[in-house]
Amino acid sequence: MTIPIANPIISDEAKDRVEAVLDSGILADGPEVRKFEDEFADYCGVEHGVATANGTTALHAALEALGVGDGDTVLTSPFSFISTANAVRFTGAEPVFADIDPETYNIDPEAVATIALEHDIDAIMPVHLYGLPAAMGPIRDLADDLDVPVIEDAAQAHGATYDSNRVGALGDVACFSFYPTKNMTTGEGGMIVTDRDDIADAAARFVNHGRTQSYDHATLGHNFRMTSMAAAIGQVQLGRLPEFIETRRANAAKLTDGLAETSVVTPTEPERMKHVYHQYTVRADDRDALQDYLNDHDIGNSVYYPKCIHDQPAYEGFKPTVPEAEVAATEALSLPVHPSVSDSDVDRIIGVIQSYDKKQN
Ligand SMILES: Cc1ncc(COP(=O)(O)O)c(C=O)c1O
Repeated sequence: MTIPIANPIISDEAKDRVEAVLDSGILADGPEVRKFEDEFADYCGVEHGVATANGTTALHAALEALGVGDGDTVLTSPFSFISTANAVRFTGAEPVFADIDPETYNIDPEAVATIALEHDIDAIMPVHLYGLPAAMGPIRDLADDLDVPVIEDAAQAHGATYDSNRVGALGDVACFSFYPTKNMTTGEGGMIVTDRDDIADAAARFVNHGRTQSYDHATLGHNFRMTSMAAAIGQVQLGRLPEFIETRRANAAKLTDGLAETSVVTPTEPERMKHVYHQYTVRADDRDALQDYLNDHDIGNSVYYPKCIHDQPAYEGFKPTVPEAEVAATEALSLPVHPSVSDSDVDRIIGVIQSYDKKQN
């Protein structure tokens, strides 16, 4: 049987909660959503949560809430899901890409500093890729020097920490995704969290047609709202998140141990950071050959991401100098690490990679 690359776990409790919501008749927005917002903000250690339809709309609304728009420039990672940069462009602003640190896959603060000298930056949007926080200390210092806000793209990093503080509490505002592959899910769903009242108010308005009160619309906005069913699932998933994270971390530790003598480069967890292993991503010189071998041996895997954002057709004309990101796009390969991966699955994954190495030699 194939070990899948992702496997969302939906408990009977979540199913019962959805049924109760369906019976209540309040299906859109409402008290379940408010409760999930409060619980999730509390988990992150911040004041406010604004639930959204997905992570992309969370990013878009957070940027709008900060006033990012036409003529602005947002510094971000070229090695991320395309949504990160798309959200910037939807506001009318332009993304500018800084290269990544090859060890962490996150934007390199030195590259950020260089780009900030070359461009007039209006905001910095680091991504906590694969569940590992970006180098938030130096990034925050740079942002303070430049007097620009930091938007965390925390779509992949629920529960990760930097200096013991959870992501979500490390910038001016942070955005999460609850897509089914994520460390916790609501089907589709997203969340904006912030300590700043002004951002929370503006974001809550933007996701609800700019509405201030019943049929008063102060500003333009969208319908980016979360459903009540999603919020009910989210509350149950949030309750299980610590257990999900610990199982991912335990699986990652066993993989790293077992793969130590193999040809792949295993992920690192720098000091000051807690990795939550949304993905367990290795580097392989001949990534495509290893991928074929894993496929032939029923080991689920995936490439996040086979192309940098600026190499996508939708980004024609964007030509950043980001060699490390471009190499990562040819070498990165993610292996199953989710909570349903058993000890014997881990042994199987390690054994298949060892046999791949023997075949190569
Ligand atoms: C880094 C990153 N940013 C943003 C998003 C967008 O989230 P969603 O798919 O919920 O819109 C994702 C989701 O895959 C992501 O991985």
